[in-house]
Amino acid sequence: MAAHVMEKRMGLRHDGRMKMTQLQCLARRLVAATLTGGTLLIAGVSMPAAALPFEDTMAQRTLACTACHGPQGRAAPDGYYPRLAGKPAGYLYNQLLNFREERRHYGLMTGLIDPLSDAYLLEMAQYFASLDVPYPAPLPAQATAAVLRRGEQLVMHGDSGRKLPACVQCHGQAMTGVVPAVPGLLGLPRDYLNAQLGAWKAGQRRAHAPDCMQDIVSRLSREEINAVASWVAAQPLPANTHAVSAAPAAAPGKDSLRCGSAPLPAAGMPDTKAQK
Ligand code: HEC
Ligand code: HEC
Repeated sequence: MAAHVMEKRMGLRHDGRMKMTQLQCLARRLVAATLTGGTLLIAGVSMPAAALPFEDTMAQRTLACTACHGPQGRAAPDGYYPRLAGKPAGYLYNQLLNFREERRHYGLMTGLIDPLSDAYLLEMAQYFASLDVPYPAPLPAQATAAVLRRGEQLVMHGDSGRKLPACVQCHGQAMTGVVPAVPGLLGLPRDYLNAQLGAWKAGQRRAHAPDCMQDIVSRLSREEINAVASWVAAQPLPANTHAVSAAPAAAPGKDSLRCGSAPLPAAGMPDTKAQK
């Protein structure tokens, strides 16, 4: 059953401030109904709501999220559920809108966030962005030296002959991201990077227009995507893992692309979704 149908049947209110008990209940029922095994079910069962003293904090209210995304949104070890902790708030907010508005596809996420207002999505994004928790060490690279060199070249310098900007031009010289809306590239498993870049190439992941990443990925071959993902995933994290406040100044004549982002909901507005 589609997640949104189930949630309607469960009578979740569209008042934008779904309580954690509802979120937890929904997550557990979705999990129970749609997944019959694996870590998710274990995660769902291992946090009985009744056993937890209920405090109305973001940490409690986002337990349904961290069942998949790992404690404090640190990512699950298998690399399938992405890390949320410490990613720029604008980036996370854009992704929540992308799932809700079907520019990214993952039914369970879309079902969970569909009833929530823009202001509440932003609040969750800001909460995860504020969590400052350590990253796992990178796994050793599995690609050949030549593949890794090609990856490094593309990430650090791009390819001006093909109007391909360096990845660091937008993602920051240390690849730790640029606030508010450009994510870092480090601390992500190779499979996740390959999957996301592959999804852009296949038209299954889109961002707010203008979708600069779509443009970039369309200029990369599958081999180049793999080279870039292999090199990036093997890089150690710098001492300062925080997103920087400005992208490096582009050298004169360097190619640059514009990237879209959602406008932020006005502060204090109770339910911007209702006004669309
Ligand atoms: C059933 C498991 C599950 C639950 C529950 C879940 N997520 Fe996710 N989430 C995922 C998966 C899987 C992806 C990656 C999908 C993809 O590859 O596009 C994802 C992606 C995301 C992303 C994009 C991350 C990035 O770096 O691009 C954000 C933000 C996010 N989730 C936030 C949340 C929030 C907030 C909640 C709770 C309201 C939540 N998720 C609940 C599984 C889940
Ligand atoms: C013109 C600026 C720009 C350039 C150049 C650029 N990116 Fe991005 N990238 C972005 C933006 C903005 C996003 C966030 C898109 C969104 O909102 O979904 C992004 C997102 C990503 C993501 C998704 C991260 C996640 O957690 O899911 C990956 C992976 C990525 N870029 C890799 C690359 C690689 C590799 C290169 C170089 C080949 C590159 N980018 C070059 C702007 C850029």
